[in-house]
Amino acid sequence: MGDSESKRDNLFANPLGAVSGFVFDQAVVDVFPDMISRSVPGYETIIAHTGELASRFVQPDTNCYDLGCSLGASTMAIGHSIEGRNANVVAVDNSTAMLEKCKVILASDSATSAVKLVNGDICDIDIHNASLVVMNFTLQFVPVEKRPGLLKTIYQGLNPGGCLIISEKLSFEPESLNKLLSDLHHDFKRGQGYSDLEISQKRDSIENVLVPETLDTHIQRLRACGFKSASPWFQCFNFCSLVAIK
Ligand SMILES: C[S@@+](CC[C@H](N)C(=O)[O-])C[C@H]1O[C@@H](n2cnc3c(N)ncnc32)[C@H](O)[C@@H]1O
Repeated sequence: MGDSESKRDNLFANPLGAVSGFVFDQAVVDVFPDMISRSVPGYETIIAHTGELASRFVQPDTNCYDLGCSLGASTMAIGHSIEGRNANVVAVDNSTAMLEKCKVILASDSATSAVKLVNGDICDIDIHNASLVVMNFTLQFVPVEKRPGLLKTIYQGLNPGGCLIISEKLSFEPESLNKLLSDLHHDFKRGQGYSDLEISQKRDSIENVLVPETLDTHIQRLRACGFKSASPWFQCFNFCSLVAIK
């Protein structure tokens, strides 16, 4: 992602005593590319295909929204795919530390598409004339009760034929299946070099902050908003990316 200064994530490597709730602060920003690529199976694939989906769906003279943009990985994938279409990318995050670093990273990116960075809550922003809206691993951090309203706002802001990409950690039923997929995810993290202590402290920190839902819940809510179609296009263990078309 053009970020040569990313450090190795060792935020949970030492015993922390009381583990506090996960926040996207400067310490996380400093290790974020390493953290997300070693924690989310398929992350690079999802980012690359976000660009490919952008290439298919983004129309000239429209807007694309990257909600929860962090350091701009999806924004850059979109930006490179839509050059010459006179389409804007609006990248939104409510972590000032993320946006400050995102601005620096975007400044050295070669894509020529127009990008507007917005520091704000994705539940409060205006979405209009959109041909693409992306929420890569962000909806899971929005309070559950605010999710239906946010998805309705996105639906209303999309043009007919427009595309929404949602990538999320999922929960599963019954609990035995949830445990299997969660164990497979933890095996993946071990394979990426995280220790058992890091895995368990990160899990404690992110519990109640990242609230996963089932695939059925996602699909039914998207259909209830009015999306004509909604389906996963990628899944690895308990991580999934969905595409929904207006
Ligand atoms: C896991 S990161 C997203 C990763 C990013 N989309 C990518 O693909 O690299 C989640 C981001 O969403 C942001 N976020 C969470 N809730 C938000 C909200 N209500 N409004 C704006 N940003 C939010 C966090 O600050 C964080 O940067």
